[in-house]
Amino acid sequence: MKLEEIRAKFPITRNYNFQNHAAIAPMSAPAAEALVGYARELSESAYLRGTYYRTAERVRNAAARLINADPSEVTFVKNTCEGINYVANGVQWLTGDNIVTTAMEFPANVYPWMALEQRGVKLKRVAEEDGRVPFDRIAAAIDKRTRLVTISAVQWSNGVRIDLTRLGELCKEKGVLLFVDAIQALGALPIDVRSMNIDFLSAGGHKWLTAPEGTGLFYCRRELIGHIKPSEIGYMCMKHPFEHDLSKFSWDELHDDARRFDSGVYNLAGICALGASIDLLLKVGIEEVQVRVKHLTDLLVEGLRSKGWRVHSPRTASEWSGIVSFSSEKHDTDALRKHLRNEFRIVVAKRLGRLRASPHFYNSTDEIRQLIDALPND
Ligand SMILES: Cc1ncc(COP(=O)(O)O)c(C=O)c1O
Repeated sequence: MKLEEIRAKFPITRNYNFQNHAAIAPMSAPAAEALVGYARELSESAYLRGTYYRTAERVRNAAARLINADPSEVTFVKNTCEGINYVANGVQWLTGDNIVTTAMEFPANVYPWMALEQRGVKLKRVAEEDGRVPFDRIAAAIDKRTRLVTISAVQWSNGVRIDLTRLGELCKEKGVLLFVDAIQALGALPIDVRSMNIDFLSAGGHKWLTAPEGTGLFYCRRELIGHIKPSEIGYMCMKHPFEHDLSKFSWDELHDDARRFDSGVYNLAGICALGASIDLLLKVGIEEVQVRVKHLTDLLVEGLRSKGWRVHSPRTASEWSGIVSFSSEKHDTDALRKHLRNEFRIVVAKRLGRLRASPHFYNSTDEIRQLIDALPND
């Protein structure tokens, strides 16, 4: 697809130079149309045409394709935390077990694991050094009592990416489970749960997937599905959800696939929108999306450096991502963020006292140049 065609699918481009996808992204036009379509259908004919649950299955298939999983391994969540909690509360932990993570994680990927301390499970947070957590330090933190490693594919603060293929190999070799918080990567960078040996993954839809809040994906490796105890029991997780003679069934006759994590009905409005955005990403091709994001962020980093700004995002081949964090000793970043928005309609974020830009595949090189031009020299 040509850039102009892609940009037409993001109406935000008419109003803003939006480079803040690591926060809450604008919805794509197809997602917005799917939401409106859902609302119209539901208001005019309820579910009498019976299409929407079929849509959910179609979206499940597309989501599975995006991460190279089988559809039976995927279900929908309302946010990243929900999927994290499924695993944190579903593994049969033993007192003295530990979980390894990094000291850079967004709190969503910390508290659910930290809460396990009440059950005698220790959370080890490996320290960062120069904006990354060295791989060897993570490896060294894994000991005989480590049951799981949990990590963000891309860190929220400076965008550093972990080499998931290498980490997946390590976890497999050590017999340790691997959980990935993929919200800062999915939709911008390819993630392949098979080749990366990922056991669990959770990602909200409202960032790089350009879907609304309240949507997301959860993946659980096929062989592990029966070992994770669902923390939310309802009727949709049952093999016979609409069977009313309860004397015939017990509470543990759960689906053999990822639907065992579903309790009741879905957020179908959100799922329709999420599906439309995933379809667009698959149509463009996630490899192509990645190429565009790389090109735009390279251009941005080059421009920032030429103006004397300090870039905090590692940019090596295995560490770069769609997030570029930068700062200057001379300028008040908060005032500058507001100035960019008010004067130029350029949207970036301020995180940890630095500016953070996160352009997506539909941004143009002109928009990147506008941002660079709007920034003062350091
Ligand atoms: C790495 C990471 N995980 C999770 C979240 C958000 O979690 P949730 O989708 O549960 O709101 C964010 C949001 O900034 C994030 O950057």
